[in-house]
Amino acid sequence: MAEQDVVVDNRVAAVVIMAAGAGTRMRSAIPKVLHRIAGKSLVALAIDTADALEPDRLVVVVGHQREQVTQHLAEVAPHVTIAVQERPLGTGDAVRAGMSALPGITGEVVVTSGDVPLLTGQTLQELVAAHREDGNAVTLLTAVVPDPTGYGRIVRDGDEVARIVEHADASDAELDLTEINSGIYVFDAATLAEGLAALEAGNAKGELYLTDVVAHARAAGRRVGARILADHLQTEGVNDRAQLAERAAELNRRILAGWMAAGVTVLDPATTWVQAGVDLAEDVTLLPGTSLEGATSVSRGATIGPDTTLIDVEVGENARVLRTHAELAVIGPDATVGPFAYLRPGTELGVRVHVGAFVETKKAIVGDGAKVPHLTYCGDAEIGPGANIGAGTIFANYDGVTKSTSTVGAHSFIGSDSVLVAPVHIADGAYVAAGSTITGDVGPGELAVSRGQQRNIRGWVARKRSGTRTAAAAEAALNRAEAGDEGSAPMESGE
Ligand code: UD1
Ligand code: CA
Repeated sequence: MAEQDVVVDNRVAAVVIMAAGAGTRMRSAIPKVLHRIAGKSLVALAIDTADALEPDRLVVVVGHQREQVTQHLAEVAPHVTIAVQERPLGTGDAVRAGMSALPGITGEVVVTSGDVPLLTGQTLQELVAAHREDGNAVTLLTAVVPDPTGYGRIVRDGDEVARIVEHADASDAELDLTEINSGIYVFDAATLAEGLAALEAGNAKGELYLTDVVAHARAAGRRVGARILADHLQTEGVNDRAQLAERAAELNRRILAGWMAAGVTVLDPATTWVQAGVDLAEDVTLLPGTSLEGATSVSRGATIGPDTTLIDVEVGENARVLRTHAELAVIGPDATVGPFAYLRPGTELGVRVHVGAFVETKKAIVGDGAKVPHLTYCGDAEIGPGANIGAGTIFANYDGVTKSTSTVGAHSFIGSDSVLVAPVHIADGAYVAAGSTITGDVGPGELAVSRGQQRNIRGWVARKRSGTRTAAAAEAALNRAEAGDEGSAPMESGE
């Protein structure tokens, strides 16, 4: 290599995420930060963003409904430290609780909220870089917004910040300021600790305001700066369900924009939803009404939708998945699925498999080139390559007590409307006659027939249904046959 890479080290001593608020306006039994966007809780998204700074310590401050939040964090983010704010006395008190989990900390402490889902790790990295470049003791992330109602306003003093005034405490002149505090900060740890110790609740809300640390730092002669984020949507929070929907739509738009830039066709971004953990290749096409969730991956050239939901599904190259609901399934290259297919966990479709309309599969391994075209239930099934499963076939896998697996060999042919009562094994190259109920194994090259023998009773319609249109039609057909019209000749009876 001709040049040495410049390694930018944005690591910080700690990040404190405030997530103790009541979230009353959500009107929910679920804590606000556990509501989900793009498949992740708000607090999990905040943790992902904070992880970009590789903090030595990551503290989440919990309070309201802390048991639920703590349990969730143990599942999704076991690396975080949990600090408890006993009572919601304000953001300053929340950060005090966070700092009590970080005794003797030095260096930089980043403070964010658990309810700003669009904030990116890159924005935090740039904020830390600006903090260092300007030699600040405190650096605020701010935004200039069309409607600053409710936000803390930034009172400037040259290129420094004098203080933050909360909406409820602001003068008329201050209310006209449009630069707002995003609630995202980088602090020098000592400056933060000193400012928190000095907080008093002498304000309109009677709370301990974290924002008062700014004026305290200035009074102590320290430098406080701000970085204005042009992309102000990143700083917007979630306070109610309408905002939850808006942030979800915006995050989805951003995820889709990223995939479109990476070579994915999205026909209708407004009705296409792709979660954060999904992986898409170049030349994938997503048709309207598609939702890709969990750890779904789609390979090059595949087309998904319309009206398809895939949850933890792996789709092979050039596969076609149409009006399908699938979960924990693998769809092989060049396979065609749907319309109206339901693939349940444990489904594995090989190369060029076709699963058609009104087919449900569960723990079904379907070999390369096999076809399950219509109206079938394949539960606990292993189907060999090239096999053909006729319309209306049922793999009867459950006897009311246990579930058993049935197998169908390579290039075997199951006639329509058959029931395979598990466990049965149909060998390679075997046939099952249409309408059979199969309870025993079938060997290679055998035809299994299991159904009542056909019997035709002549004259039955004339005797039992005389005077009906059916009887008239029968009589006319019989007369034509007698007159030599071969097209309507009655069939031989029996098989
Ligand atoms: C806060 C800022 C305001 C800023 C706004 C940005 C203060 C005093 N004001 O106002 O300048 O413009 O955020 O959205 O900080 N929380 C706790 N414990 C508490 C109170 C709050 O953990 O006792 C958490 C909340 O869960 C939330 C965050 O702190 O994640 C912000 O609290 P919130 O009440 O929304 O602050 P704002 O009044 O909006
Ligand atoms: Ca808020």
